[in-house]
Amino acid sequence: MDYLAWQDDLNTGIQVIDDQHKRIVFMINLLIRTQEPGHSRDEVGNVLNELVDYTLSHFAFEESLMEEAGYEFTRPHKHVHKIFIARVKDFSLRFKAGEDITQELIGLLSRWLFNHIRNDDSNYVQSVKDNMNVLVSDKQAGGWFSRSIKKFFN
Ligand SMILES: [Fe+2]
Repeated sequence: MDYLAWQDDLNTGIQVIDDQHKRIVFMINLLIRTQEPGHSRDEVGNVLNELVDYTLSHFAFEESLMEEAGYEFTRPHKHVHKIFIARVKDFSLRFKAGEDITQELIGLLSRWLFNHIRNDDSNYVQSVKDNMNVLVSDKQAGGWFSRSIKKFFN
């Protein structure tokens, strides 16, 4: 199975978001690697848990950036995240029940993520960027960024 490659048009130009998206791609690639010979089911389970965990934190962080910016489509964007999380949790349950869902899940993750970044995330970029300067200037101890990173990624 081919590894996922980052593509330049996936860059939003918001460094913290691009870094998180790249990390998700890296973790999908870890999952792909577990499909090569010599990897146990436990390993798949561990990568899966970490991937779900990290993605949840990323969504929460992204949602608070949108809210903070007063982005007008925050609600529908959060809804898209929610539906996706439900789908992934369903895969998780099937995996725990002993089903081999990894290939199918990798397919969903790769398609969904790139599509979501290109179509949904790209829409909030302007409004979040406009608000960035305000947040970055919040430099007192525990400024908005460090507070949020701590809160969502502890
Ligand atoms: Fe998103």
